[in-house]
Amino acid sequence: MSEAYEKLQNCLKCIREKTDFRPEMALILGSGLGDYAESIDIRAEVSYHDIEGFPVSTVPGHKGRFVFGYVKQVPVIVMQGRVHYYEGYAMEDVVLPTRLMGMLGAKKLLVTNAAGGINFDFAPGDFMLITDHISTMVPNPLLGANLGELGPRFPDMSEVYSRRMGTIVKAEAEKLGISLKEGVYLQLTGPSYETPAEIRMFRNLGADAVGMSTVCETIAARHMGMEICGISCITNLAAGMSVKALNHAEVQETADRVAKQFKELVTAVVGQ
Ligand code: HPA
Repeated sequence: MSEAYEKLQNCLKCIREKTDFRPEMALILGSGLGDYAESIDIRAEVSYHDIEGFPVSTVPGHKGRFVFGYVKQVPVIVMQGRVHYYEGYAMEDVVLPTRLMGMLGAKKLLVTNAAGGINFDFAPGDFMLITDHISTMVPNPLLGANLGELGPRFPDMSEVYSRRMGTIVKAEAEKLGISLKEGVYLQLTGPSYETPAEIRMFRNLGADAVGMSTVCETIAARHMGMEICGISCITNLAAGMSVKALNHAEVQETADRVAKQFKELVTAVVGQ
């Protein structure tokens, strides 16, 4: 057994000592949805601190625990607090929680994030269904010895974001009267925001939104064969697209402003 897989097994054991709950779906929720877990029918929770070897976030305001429970009768596991590559973790640790949720039984993953809009048709407060991603600027989380227990050496990435689930997201958004854009998400390491020249380059490369998370997690999840759906909240126009400078407060402000709608959408999608 490789060291990485042994670490995962150890984490799994720590969690299984506390709960035998089997989630069907995993939720990784970004800015604005930090308190979503508190709104579900909670059956168990496990603090990240109680999981040996688990990466614990350094970002202020990020809580660190897995919450197990039901959303509309669907057994879910919610990551309350996630870690980012820019915090200095090894990529293997950034995707460890995602892998653990898969090992706990989750066959599906719903991931959300805050993102800067690159597409000229986007406005702050819009939601974007992630139809595909570009990840070439961040190390691939599958680098190194393959964890054969989880998946193949060369996993296919031709449909990372499930068209089936995308159809559900679109239908639920329409029912709720939420306007939903679609596009390609590009992950960067951060933590500095991009320059206007970089944003022009990313637009030419085919990106519609940019952020500092998600793709590494979805690659690890896809490697395990999970069915994935991703939704971005466009919190700001990317660098150079408006006269304003970027700052985290603005990102948080927009995320908080649309959080209620975002939560409704997440609940509706899980229910379907
Ligand atoms: N760039 C990168 N990450 C982000 C942005 C952005 O403009 N907005 C929210 N997360």
